Amino acid sequence: MRRYDILSLFPGFFQGPLSESILKRAQQRGIVQITVHDLRSYAHDRHAIVDDRPYGGGAGMVLKPEPIIEAVTSLRQGQETHLVLLTPQGRPFKQAIAQELVEHQHLLCVCGRYEGFDERVRDLLAPDEISIGDYVLTGGELPALVLLDAVIRLIPGVLGDEDSARYDSFVDALLDFPHYTRPQSIQGLGVPDVLLSGDHERIRRWRRKEALRRTKVRRPDLLQQAFLSKEDLDLLGEIEGEQGAS
Ligand code: ADE
Repeated sequence: MRRYDILSLFPGFFQGPLSESILKRAQQRGIVQITVHDLRSYAHDRHAIVDDRPYGGGAGMVLKPEPIIEAVTSLRQGQETHLVLLTPQGRPFKQAIAQELVEHQHLLCVCGRYEGFDERVRDLLAPDEISIGDYVLTGGELPALVLLDAVIRLIPGVLGDEDSARYDSFVDALLDFPHYTRPQSIQGLGVPDVLLSGDHERIRRWRRKEALRRTKVRRPDLLQQAFLSKEDLDLLGEIEGEQGAS
């Protein structure tokens, strides 16, 4: 069973997301154990103070190092623990990082708040710093949830249908192809004939082509990095030959 610990000043943040749907089921089935810890319980002064004013002055408060260091020391389980610090200064989170993190048996995610952490937390604990995007949130709680959601769904047995994760957007650096379900017609819009054909090979080729088309139009940056097969290059050639690729 993989273990995920979250250290936060606002444990209440996690109640809803962890008790719904797939994350709830993964815990109930004993595939993962997720525990939220209150950072304040590691502050030992009378008022349980976890932040302080910055040396050198300036706006905002800084998270004190001692409660974080004590919490991490007590929650760490030797080599097994991979320490993640959620911060806008971290490496940008991507599907490839989720795939890397799912290999760890124990993640300890530390959520920042205010102006951030005392720098010595980084120096002493050498965490893997991760950002979920180039925008600033009020704290690391939502980023920790985003990261754990992306990681946990990759654990074998967590998703009902094993294929759902394998064919996701980004797994091979492409966006997903378009999906359709019933009804066959809605407000005059039908379903592409090929999907009704029952011809698995044609369907596979069509899906690959539409994934390439969508990536080319919406995320040409991803297409640059993608590993493209001979068939992919042929399909891109077809797309270029068509009018108004969209
Ligand atoms: N804390 C605040 N903003 C963040 C972000 N974009 N990623 C990770 N942690 C954060």
